[in-house]
Amino acid sequence: MPQNNDTSQKEVVISVRGLEVGFGPKTIMKDLNLDIYRGEILGFVGASGTGKSVLTRTILGLIKKRAGEINVFGQNVDGLSHDERRKMEQRWGVLFQQGALFSALTVKQNVQVPMREYLSLPQDVLDEMAMLKIQMVGLPADAADKFPSELSGGMIKRAALARALALDPDILFLDEPTSGLDPIGAGDFDDLIETLQKTLGLTVFMVTHDLDSLYSACDRIAALGQGKIIEQGPIEHMLQSTNPWVHSYFHGKRARAVLAGQHEA
Ligand SMILES: Nc1ncnc2c1ncn2[C@@H]1O[C@H](COP(=O)(O)OP(=O)(O)OP(=O)(O)O)[C@@H](O)[C@H]1O
Ligand SMILES: [Mg+2]
Repeated sequence: MPQNNDTSQKEVVISVRGLEVGFGPKTIMKDLNLDIYRGEILGFVGASGTGKSVLTRTILGLIKKRAGEINVFGQNVDGLSHDERRKMEQRWGVLFQQGALFSALTVKQNVQVPMREYLSLPQDVLDEMAMLKIQMVGLPADAADKFPSELSGGMIKRAALARALALDPDILFLDEPTSGLDPIGAGDFDDLIETLQKTLGLTVFMVTHDLDSLYSACDRIAALGQGKIIEQGPIEHMLQSTNPWVHSYFHGKRARAVLAGQHEA
């Protein structure tokens, strides 16, 4: 559940200032500012196509920005040397919206991809580390040697999470981690994220359309619209927003069903 939301006391681990991103003649975001605090689960919402995945990929340095500054752990990501950049990449883990796993690799081999890229360790150590991550995300040990095509959607999400955790990151980026899961599966996944966040002290940036996740797992929520952050704060704040999109998102038919469910619980 949401913890202390007094942001003035918190350490900023990712700061985005004056960000502009576009493709050709199209501007996706402009003058976007956002802070992500250490140890929080920030839920990131916005209509489809507003640029949630683009923002995630821009923070990760996979999309070039047109203007603005991104600082991670107090370091401007544009000013990093090759070695510094690689060190930073080891401090974040990512679960992408698309292409969660390599289909030609087993779960264990998938989890070892980042390990091979950044660490040079003998195979038996890599195997031990991968098994630990697989266990950590609640997958049975025999899932390790299975290929993605042999897994359920929920198991694929867990395997992708194990890979995101491969290098013991400080920050986890999750792009719609519960999409496609049934409500119980999604709820279990949220519980897992919360448990991992608490036990490992992670900072989590989670793009989601899942209202249950926003209510139960997120400490704070930021909403993207018209290329900017249109509202941000804890769920109570979002519920009182007068922004029309935010209001209808949190007070629409779907939202009321979630609220009713919460009251029953
Ligand atoms: N590599 C690219 N080249 C050109 N346009 C792109 C590229 N990546 C994304 N876009 C465009 O940027 C906009 C934002 O896309 P993005 O994937 O970030 O949306 P989103 O908010 O994540 O949506 P969803 O909720 O459906 O995942 C879209 O109009 C998309 O077509
Ligand atoms: Mg997306």
